[in-house]
Amino acid sequence: MATNRTFTMIKPDAVGNNFIGPILAKINEAGFRIVAMKYLKLSNEAAGKFYAIHKERPFYGELVDYMSSGPIVAVILEKENAVADFRKLIGATDPAKAEKGTIRNLFAKSIAANAVHGSDSDENAATEGNFFFSESERF
Ligand code: RTP
Ligand code: MG
Repeated sequence: MATNRTFTMIKPDAVGNNFIGPILAKINEAGFRIVAMKYLKLSNEAAGKFYAIHKERPFYGELVDYMSSGPIVAVILEKENAVADFRKLIGATDPAKAEKGTIRNLFAKSIAANAVHGSDSDENAATEGNFFFSESERF
């Protein structure tokens, strides 16, 4: 997969608060192009598989329950330097520490309900995109 792609999810809190539109607007304004997009609810099992990378961390169970608690929007994005630039756009994991104007600063309330996911490497971006989308679903 090209290294100019990243993967994001708009998490259940942001969907529930009607922030899908405002978050997608921020993403587009920052120069990202949408390659693929889906609105869906993860089963507990699917969320567990997606976050298998965090299996040993103390918050794994809470994270999996949370991410399967309501619908999400899964999106593949394209831009030069996509992974790093997107992490910058969303801000720190804890919204209280997220820089002003970042997506988590604007739209998130807590570490668990922090509005968006952003891939942390090109390799994980490819794996995560493949989890949700087939080749024919990318444009
Ligand atoms: P993400 O993967 O969602 O983009 O977030 P991240 O890289 O900034 O943070 P990561 O360490 O990968 O953690 C994944 C998600 O787990 C939840 N979390 N909860 N209760 C806690 O201390 C805690 N720490 C992390 C967050 O929702 C985080 O986004
Ligand atoms: Mg992460």
